[in-house]
Amino acid sequence: MDDGLLKFADIQNRILSLRKALHHHNYLYYIKNDPEISDAAYDLLFRELQDLEAAHPELASVDSPTQRVGAPPATELSTVRRSIPMLSINNAFSDEDIFDFDRRVRRHLQTDDPILYTVELKLDGIAVELVYQNGILSLGTTRGDGLTGEVITANLKTIGTIPIVLRQGDKSPPPELIEVRGEVVMTKEGFSRLNAQRLSRNEPAFANARNAAAGSLRQLDPAVTASRPLMMFAYGIGRFSEIDRYSSHYAILKTLADLGFKINDHTRAGVDIGTVIDIFNNMETTRESLPYDIDGLVIKVDSLEMQRQLGSTSRSPRWVIARKFQAVQETTIIESIEIQVGRTGAMTPVACLKPVRIGGVQVSRATLHNEDEIKRKDIRIGDTVLVQRAGDVIPEVVKAITSVRSGQEAVFRMSATCPVCGTRAVRIEGEAVTRCINALCPAQVKERIKHFASKGAFDIDGLGDKLVEQLVDKNLVQSPADLFLLDKSVLAGLERMGEKSAENIIAAIEKSKRIDFSAFLFALGIRFVGEHVARLLADAFDDIRRLMEADPETLNGIEGIGPVVSDSLRRFFENERNQQLVERLIESGVVIVYGRKPSRGEENTAVDGKSFVFTGGLESLTRDEARSLVERAGGRVTGSVSARTDYVVVGSDPGSKLEKAERLGIKVLEEQAFKNLIGNA
Ligand code: IVH
Repeated sequence: MDDGLLKFADIQNRILSLRKALHHHNYLYYIKNDPEISDAAYDLLFRELQDLEAAHPELASVDSPTQRVGAPPATELSTVRRSIPMLSINNAFSDEDIFDFDRRVRRHLQTDDPILYTVELKLDGIAVELVYQNGILSLGTTRGDGLTGEVITANLKTIGTIPIVLRQGDKSPPPELIEVRGEVVMTKEGFSRLNAQRLSRNEPAFANARNAAAGSLRQLDPAVTASRPLMMFAYGIGRFSEIDRYSSHYAILKTLADLGFKINDHTRAGVDIGTVIDIFNNMETTRESLPYDIDGLVIKVDSLEMQRQLGSTSRSPRWVIARKFQAVQETTIIESIEIQVGRTGAMTPVACLKPVRIGGVQVSRATLHNEDEIKRKDIRIGDTVLVQRAGDVIPEVVKAITSVRSGQEAVFRMSATCPVCGTRAVRIEGEAVTRCINALCPAQVKERIKHFASKGAFDIDGLGDKLVEQLVDKNLVQSPADLFLLDKSVLAGLERMGEKSAENIIAAIEKSKRIDFSAFLFALGIRFVGEHVARLLADAFDDIRRLMEADPETLNGIEGIGPVVSDSLRRFFENERNQQLVERLIESGVVIVYGRKPSRGEENTAVDGKSFVFTGGLESLTRDEARSLVERAGGRVTGSVSARTDYVVVGSDPGSKLEKAERLGIKVLEEQAFKNLIGNA
């Protein structure tokens, strides 16, 4: 034998063994999720094979792993008629529909015996068919209209979970012919990554993982498909040269797994109809945590003989049914866009929709979030849109279906004024939200009053959400200031309100009138003025009127206060109605308690830096008042007694904290002694 030929034989062998090794590693990686070698080692083998094939074009083969990538772009997708149509599946939307299906099956088979089913996930992707001749992938198509599909062989070959050569058991040669059917899906994670990438490149985002999978498969250039995170699960067959050896659907699935396909792990074989219902109920909660979208379960009569007896209608086989989850996305039409004013005055555009059922719930409104979001998605009034609802969240408009526009659609413009009170709306630079800043805007009143009465603000005991809503609905209260005009007889006349509780609430309102300056500021609900900022402002001013008139420089000069807060304060206090609110509160008897934190040298050394614990009820102070007195004097209040506690203040019915204090020898103060110490007697 001559030298060259020997070398040629070596090369040929090397190519064959590289192909075999690469197919094997591909299977371990994509199907078993259990690779034996590193990605880098795989790449090395892959490149060696690519180089050898490039140097020896006569040794190229369609079954080489190198054939997954590198096919040239097509100019169009051709179509092909298949011999066994891919039918669709009838849907069941309730347990009753499932029992009906089971009854129909038994009637048709003339049996009372329980039928055994195989239950699979209904994967929400794109149905494809793969034709293998003597173990080699020769054709890949989309489902198309069932009978005619589009040829996407080169695209499908780029998907790692699709074998381009069937795995061969040691025993037998590959089947002469098998047509494998399955679903190509994009993972949820891959979908969001792809969309993020598309948005960053100013490309339109896909509405859902299914659309993304469809778009990725119908590419002319396989390199684009290769870049997309797709996978395929096999769930059935078309023609199969060895079908006579099988009597059960599940046995076919096991063979598909042996041949190198991915079969979904959640597949359950040999279950009765009652168990089918249980599986469905479980899956309704599990589906969220799956890495891909599913839209239901597919329930198949497992016996192939029974399948044959049952046969098909022109549309779908009688041996299978899909139990669908309630849909989460539907299309409908935007009839108008309204502005809804939230509790902080945020003006949210809301789409008024032609009512549509989504996930079992009638939906007629969906949030559009804000002005920029509408612009970005180019959503117009009159558009047909995709609407999505997930669990308890507010339905949202996902996108407009621009291909069905008539040209009559109107572009949305954000209103310049609040639709509820007519005040000029404000949109802060750098923010997406437009707001109504009128504190007395009726839309905001309820929420503002709830905030006003809450802990840390006026802390009015017994004035809960339900009561506030009643008071506003009955027009008894339109502004927080109106709370101080309420009288007992009016309150007592309200739902679920007796004389005694009315009396208690009036007393609580009365008591709340004496209020710390910082709590007062916090109660006003000024944007960016939370408890901490309110404290900083209260420390810096000893008169609310001076704060109201303070110029930006003064405000910005306060440590911890920046332009965001000072702008917000200016906007709030510039509004005449907000000024009136402050005046009315003072007129109705609210007493603002001022008191700066002592500056250096003025500290109350008995309190400054000391740690306090309260136990039992105090008589003349609430816990919060007591706490703020301590804090203003530079002390700290903690919840439990330890060796580091300086004082334990006891009220009526003290708890175990008193015992502990005594045990640890910590100084115990009664209420009056505490007040003396604080200097507020
Ligand atoms: S079996 C005649 N099994 O559902 C039965 N289909 O409307 C052929 N699908 O287009 C299909 N998961 O893409 C079957 N485990 C599964 C499936 C499944 C999803 C899709 C399939 C088909 C549609 C039926």
